[in-house]
Formats: sequence, C-alpha cells, structure tokens
Amino acid sequence: MPLDPAAAQAVIDRYPNSRSAILPLFWLGQQADGYVTPETAEQVADLLGLPLGEVESVLSFYTMFRRRPPARCRLQLCRSLACSMHGADEILEHIAAETGVAPGEQSADGGFSVEVVECIAACDHAPAYLCNERMDGPLSKEKALRLLRGEGGGDAR
Ligand code: FES
Repeated sequence: MPLDPAAAQAVIDRYPNSRSAILPLFWLGQQADGYVTPETAEQVADLLGLPLGEVESVLSFYTMFRRRPPARCRLQLCRSLACSMHGADEILEHIAAETGVAPGEQSADGGFSVEVVECIAACDHAPAYLCNERMDGPLSKEKALRLLRGEGGGDAR
C-alpha cells in the first residue's frame, strides 16, 4: 500500500534536509506492508526528489529493511556459548536436514527463514530463539520444526 501522505509528510517535516527522512520513510513503509515494496521505494524517491537508483542503493545498504514479504516464521536461533552448549548447532543441523533450509536462507515458499544470532540475553532458556521477534526457549528439534511448519511451537517453558 502507498505511504500515508500525511504520515510521510510529518516524517519529512522533522528534518531540515528532506533527504534525511529516507530511512524513517522506509520504516513507515515496512511497518505498513511488512517490507519495503517497490512502490514504496518509488514513492520515497518522488517525495524526496531523489533518483530511484539512489533510493534503491540506500535501501539495499541497510539489512534491517526487508525487500520481500516476511516469512511466516523468522526463526533466529542463538548460537552463543550457553545456547551452543545446549544443542543449538544440532538443532540447526536438524532443521537443514529436514527442510533443506540452512542458516541464512528462506524456504522456497517463503514460509520461513532461519538465522543465527548472537546472545539474545535469554541464556537461562538456552537454546534460546526469536520467532518473529518473540523470544522463547528452550528450543528443541521437534519444536523448531513445528514452528517452521506453522503448527505452533507450544510453550517449551
Ligand atoms: S547464549 Fe544464547 S541467549 Fe545467551
């Protein structure tokens, strides 16, 4: 959906130089659509009077902006010391063996993605994870597959 014109203008008005609003405008689009659509990028270029190529280059630089619809489950599994010692690596290997999706990849249908992250300050629930920014743990091989298949993971605590 296009950016709300009033909200976009309110963002632009916060900055003495309108081009400084480029990242907040991306956030606005991502909050509305779940990712920065090509239409949003074009609209940002129009609003800021910038070439689309420049807007695209800024957009591609920042990894926090998604360029495609988010997965149903974005699984981020911690592999720092406590979680590694409690089986995080084995879970990642199990996921890859069962689904063909390795860390850093997204399933072919776009339904889920798997990422490795550093300590998320939930060491007492190791192996800890985030699913769509919701922190939980401990994760098991079985629970991981249920989450990725959209079957819910239950609460492992
Ligand atoms: S080591 Fe995994 S949450 Fe801290």
